[in-house]
Amino acid sequence: MRLVVTGGLGFIGSNFIRERLHEHDDEIVNVDRVTYASNPLNRDLSTLEGYTFIKADIADYDRMKSISKGADCIVNFAAESHVDNSIASSDLFIHSNIVGVHSILKVIHELGIRLHHVSTDEVFGSMDQNANEKFHDGSPYNPRNPYSATKASSDFLIRAFSNTYRINATISNCSNNYGPYQHPEKLIPKTILNALNGHKIPIYGNGGQIRDWIHVHDHCSAISLIIDRGRPGETYLVGGNSEVTNLEVVNKILKIMNKPQNLISHVTDRPGHDMRYAIETSQSLKALGWKKTIGFDAGLRETIRHYLENHETYGNARQWESGWI
Ligand SMILES: NC(=O)c1ccc[n+]([C@@H]2O[C@H](COP(=O)([O-])OP(=O)(O)OC[C@H]3O[C@@H](n4cnc5c(N)ncnc54)[C@H](O)[C@@H]3O)[C@@H](O)[C@H]2O)c1
Repeated sequence: MRLVVTGGLGFIGSNFIRERLHEHDDEIVNVDRVTYASNPLNRDLSTLEGYTFIKADIADYDRMKSISKGADCIVNFAAESHVDNSIASSDLFIHSNIVGVHSILKVIHELGIRLHHVSTDEVFGSMDQNANEKFHDGSPYNPRNPYSATKASSDFLIRAFSNTYRINATISNCSNNYGPYQHPEKLIPKTILNALNGHKIPIYGNGGQIRDWIHVHDHCSAISLIIDRGRPGETYLVGGNSEVTNLEVVNKILKIMNKPQNLISHVTDRPGHDMRYAIETSQSLKALGWKKTIGFDAGLRETIRHYLENHETYGNARQWESGWI
């Protein structure tokens, strides 16, 4: 296939490109605006056969249209992805996550090509910590921070274009990813790098927030299956079936790295913090043959190895606060 992958210098997009080109004889054009979230380690993607990089903004309709001519499918990972940044200022989130997706929708409609859009379980909002249920196919959207509101908006735009113009589009909503190449602003890389450098590890509130963790490899294998065999118009939920509190995640990392628990520092909670994300994988995805393959503890060990091997590039997490590139 000829794929235009957007946001492929970021965490999930870069893992997807590596795995897809390893397993398929595809041509991939990676379109990325190279924001602070692009990982410099991903420069080595250019050594892969079938790979081309173009620096561009997905909200630039003319460029996206010219780049996408002749492609079979646009796979959209490009987004502003950090909730804390969206609370500080939502402007860029509206630009990339809503205006950008609208630009892609016009392109795929005009060129008659397919779209797979990568979305999040955060569109469903917060699930009661004690509830004996998970979000599932058909659960209503209830985004509760600017980031999740922009992701929900883009999902709705895609559904509306599918209904109105009969475009060929699929969406996946996945739970929290971890694994190699994630930006150190996020919980797991930040914890590993701070622990390595003997810095305090900030935890919001009491750390009791529950997330459903999935290794990025399992998310990418779901996306690949959907691209190859998914049904137009379908939304696929991808869950990790691995609910862990933030405090437990940090304690697991400290234990594996043999670092003291007194590095943990409880800080004022994020405003409007969602307490629990939990999502049931769609039957339609299981029917395509998808299964999670990496358990959380084994995946965490492998992830820690990636950050230890590349700690000089990642630097220490404090430096990341002012941006990467
Ligand atoms: N990380 C998770 O746990 C998770 C879970 C579910 C869904 N998602 C979704 O997956 C996608 C990828 O997430 P990630 O964690 O890899 O994000 P990331 O922040 O690591 O990477 C995003 C990439 O997109 C690029 N980008 C941003 N705005 C752009 C624009 N306007 N034009 C072109 N490129 C642009 C950035 O430069 C960066 O390289 C996002 O849409 C996110 O909402 C993430």
